[in-house]
Amino acid sequence: MRINISLAILVLLNGVAAFWRMECRGRLGVARLDPLISPGTVSQHAHAIHGSSGFSNDATHADLVNGECTSCIVTQDKSAYWAPNLYFKHANGTYEDVEQVGGMLAYYFLNPDAKNPNGKIQAFPNDFRMIAGDSTRRNYSLGDPQKPDPEKSRWAQLGQTTQYDLAQRALGFNCLDYSKAPEGSLQRHYLPNKTYLDANCPDGVRFELSFPSCWNGKDITSPDFKSHVAYPDLVLNGNCPDGFNVKLPGLFYETIWATNAFKGVDGEFVISNGDVQGYGYHGDFMSGWDANFLQEAVDQCTNLSGRVQDCPIFTLQTEDQQRQCKLTVPSALANEKVTGMIGNSLPGGVAIQLGPGPAIGNNPQTESASIPVPTVGYTPGTSVTGSSYLPGGVFAFGKTSTTNAAASSATPGVNALAEQHSSLTPSPTPTPSEPPVPAGYQLVRTDYVTNGNVVSKIVVIETVEYVMVATETVTVTATGGAEKSRRQLLHLHQHRHGSH
Ligand SMILES: *[C@@H]1O[C@H](CO)[C@@H](O)[C@H](O)[C@H]1NC(C)=O
Ligand SMILES: *[C@@H]1O[C@H](CO)[C@@H](O)[C@H](O)[C@H]1NC(C)=O
Ligand SMILES: *[C@@H]1O[C@H](CO)[C@@H](O)[C@H](O)[C@H]1NC(C)=O
Ligand SMILES: *[C@@H]1O[C@H](CO)[C@@H](O)[C@H](O)[C@H]1NC(C)=O
Repeated sequence: MRINISLAILVLLNGVAAFWRMECRGRLGVARLDPLISPGTVSQHAHAIHGSSGFSNDATHADLVNGECTSCIVTQDKSAYWAPNLYFKHANGTYEDVEQVGGMLAYYFLNPDAKNPNGKIQAFPNDFRMIAGDSTRRNYSLGDPQKPDPEKSRWAQLGQTTQYDLAQRALGFNCLDYSKAPEGSLQRHYLPNKTYLDANCPDGVRFELSFPSCWNGKDITSPDFKSHVAYPDLVLNGNCPDGFNVKLPGLFYETIWATNAFKGVDGEFVISNGDVQGYGYHGDFMSGWDANFLQEAVDQCTNLSGRVQDCPIFTLQTEDQQRQCKLTVPSALANEKVTGMIGNSLPGGVAIQLGPGPAIGNNPQTESASIPVPTVGYTPGTSVTGSSYLPGGVFAFGKTSTTNAAASSATPGVNALAEQHSSLTPSPTPTPSEPPVPAGYQLVRTDYVTNGNVVSKIVVIETVEYVMVATETVTVTATGGAEKSRRQLLHLHQHRHGSH
């Protein structure tokens, strides 16, 4: 299904910004390597690693840049992206890795600081490094994780915009059922249990991780790899906190895991850092871009399609080329089994630790059954008004065995996607207050961004290939009436009044 391209040209207003989806269809490998946390040695737990083949346990920016290849689609992107791998622990205690479907996707969101909507996005400086999430975390401190998040517009009022809070909301575990409307991204902040996944997620689960995008403007890294950066107050967008006024591209990792392959098999899913609940999910980034080049891309590549194909300065490679790019595993790890049936412990002997207190190093802790793993029901992203969700389901793939047809296509994966979506039941009819969605699209989410007295309503619709963003800006008086409404291409109807 191809869309009418002219529809992609939508008016962009008031800080709603472009983004790219950096596809990394190849995986460099799985290994206990982490140049940030464990430089020069082996790391505690195994990671699924993507990006430049220059990656190693002590990689520098130069090493990444000089890597022979990248497992991502844009050849100029020699960055390294890594996050824990997922395992299944069989009832007999044997661990087996879970298939990662379709590689990884890193969104680059180009959202300005809401306080400075016309401000520019600063490219990552050379050698920029950061970590999102906390590997030792084993609880959720923002109330009942089974309850959906409050509307974003209320987070500040509820006192839920500390960095500590935002970091917990920056994790998502999206239950995939391609026969239903997609769940919203960052909607569920824990990994559902096996029973739930078996019953509700026939297409697996998508891990989501949002990185901080507000920078202190001077340090390329910091001792904890976090304190030089901060989240804007709505995680993906919003206001940057004081002292972090330089806006970087907002990185957002997505990986899909074929948990469905274990349907009916007795056991549990365990993230490589010994976390069964997902609260300790995290990810690492080292920029391997040339900062000047990335700045050009950030400045020029603002097509709202999200497609790297629409950025003329990017050089693209095929899915096959991305898949051929592999890591040289150091000799110390060459014989460590990290995929397939790997034996009676996680790589590195990491023990499962349930919390609620933080996990401690590798110290085995008795597995206690007393900590409940929460569950929330399957909620399509479209049904939660006023929350900000990413375009769910965009990075959806068929089983890897069926994606070969798309291998050399200029838009990898599209064939598989089209195939998959052709069996979708029609997307739900939006409620009358929602804008009309053009034929062939589905409404993915409705979002509100508040900036001073201006509330922008953002409606995201998608087809199998493109994501588009349309905005309507409404100026709201202090007492709350809508004063001015500018209709955009989709003739959106403002139906939210003035709590701001
Ligand atoms: C444990 O169970 C799995 C799944 O049935 C099986 O494949 C594996 O061989 C078993 N491992 C051992 C050591 O028996
Ligand atoms: C998994 O979650 C369900 C609720 O969806 C709950 O009923 C069940 O007891 C949980 N299973 C385990 C093994 O914790
Ligand atoms: C954006 O991309 C679409 C294709 O996805 C293309 O047709 C359109 O011309 C591009 N717009 C701009 C302004 O480059
Ligand atoms: C929850 O996790 C945080 C971070 O690891 C920790 O500081 C806190 O003590 C934990 N809460 C409980 C109740 O253990």
